[in-house]
Amino acid sequence: MKRCLELAQKGINHVAPNPMVGSVIVYNNKIIGEGFHQKFGESHAEVNAIKSVKDKSLLSKSTLYVNLEPCAHTGKTPPCCELISSYNIPKVFIGSIDLNSKVDGKGIAHLKQHGTDVKSGILKKESDWLNRRFFTYHQKKRPYVILKWAETKDGFIDKNRKNGEKGVNWISHPNTKIVSHNWRAQEASILVGRKTVEIDNPSLTTREVEGENPVRIVLDPNLSLSNKYHIFNDEAKTLIFNYNKNENQNTNEFIKISKNNPINDILSKLYQFELNSVIIEGGASTIQHFIDESAWDEARVIEGNIKFQEGIISPKLNRKKHSSLELNTDTIKTYYND
Ligand SMILES: NC(=O)c1ccc[n+]([C@@H]2O[C@H](COP(=O)([O-])OP(=O)(O)OC[C@H]3O[C@@H](n4cnc5c(N)ncnc54)[C@H](OP(=O)(O)O)[C@@H]3O)[C@@H](O)[C@H]2O)c1
Repeated sequence: MKRCLELAQKGINHVAPNPMVGSVIVYNNKIIGEGFHQKFGESHAEVNAIKSVKDKSLLSKSTLYVNLEPCAHTGKTPPCCELISSYNIPKVFIGSIDLNSKVDGKGIAHLKQHGTDVKSGILKKESDWLNRRFFTYHQKKRPYVILKWAETKDGFIDKNRKNGEKGVNWISHPNTKIVSHNWRAQEASILVGRKTVEIDNPSLTTREVEGENPVRIVLDPNLSLSNKYHIFNDEAKTLIFNYNKNENQNTNEFIKISKNNPINDILSKLYQFELNSVIIEGGASTIQHFIDESAWDEARVIEGNIKFQEGIISPKLNRKKHSSLELNTDTIKTYYND
């Protein structure tokens, strides 16, 4: 199962909104086949693992390991549980149950009906963790929410701006940008507040690394942004959440949200768009709204090796730090909302 998880991880930037899945086939204590789900819409891990076994006659004497329950429905590919039973694989070991309502135990039921010996919950904690975006999406009907910001050693996310001064005041080491672009590539969407667009004019793309750009989102309730900013270019799709209108303009889509409970509404709209994760990159007031509503799962705070003495104060998490990682001259601190 550990090998399944290693294989599954290889799909990280390419399979969303599908889960990351790896599969291993063992005969006589030897791995005779393995595979993983490589790209959204392409074959599942079990299909690739079975395909990789040279002598298919061994399958009826082998054990298949997979970190997620085999699917039971015809989606972009046929059901994996049927493929497994068509080869009479006698034993299947599973990590997590698939909480997608189309599967949710049906894959296991099918295998058992066909006489397969099935055990689930193997390395369950690790399997659930790997696909936390997928499970949050199906269980909570909202994307997995990651908060991300950079702060100075004395707790500021920006200097005070005089006379409408624009442009980024960098806090982190230039090389940390690669890490943060990798984080972007791992998420389905990226969100910022209106003032961050006006002041920093970010592109919100993954240009420093390989991987797809996430869908860009800006909270511009009163539609005060003009279209001159980078996030409105056609490098990626952009959703503009606002109080006024629903409208499609090429890669930009305006989406009306409620004034009463905007955070909740934003998250349900992202669910409807099948975006299973969002990384929120500022500014402080946007992030603080999500914290105040407890609408977050993970926070990644980059502490740079610099002090501003005064400025915009960082968001307040009120959670104990889970871990710290020293990187370049920065420290990456991780928090969880549990
Ligand atoms: N260090 C970092 O990691 C980092 C990252 C990003 C930005 N920044 C800095 O942060 C500063 C901007 O931060 P900020 O806190 O002033 O502004 P911001 O969070 O970028 O934008 C705030 C605006 O977004 C809209 N908004 C946010 N949450 C909303 C909600 N729940 N419902 C409706 N609208 C919502 C509102 O627009 P309206 O005002 O139009 O209603 C609000 O005024 C800049 O100086 C930027 O350089 C730093």
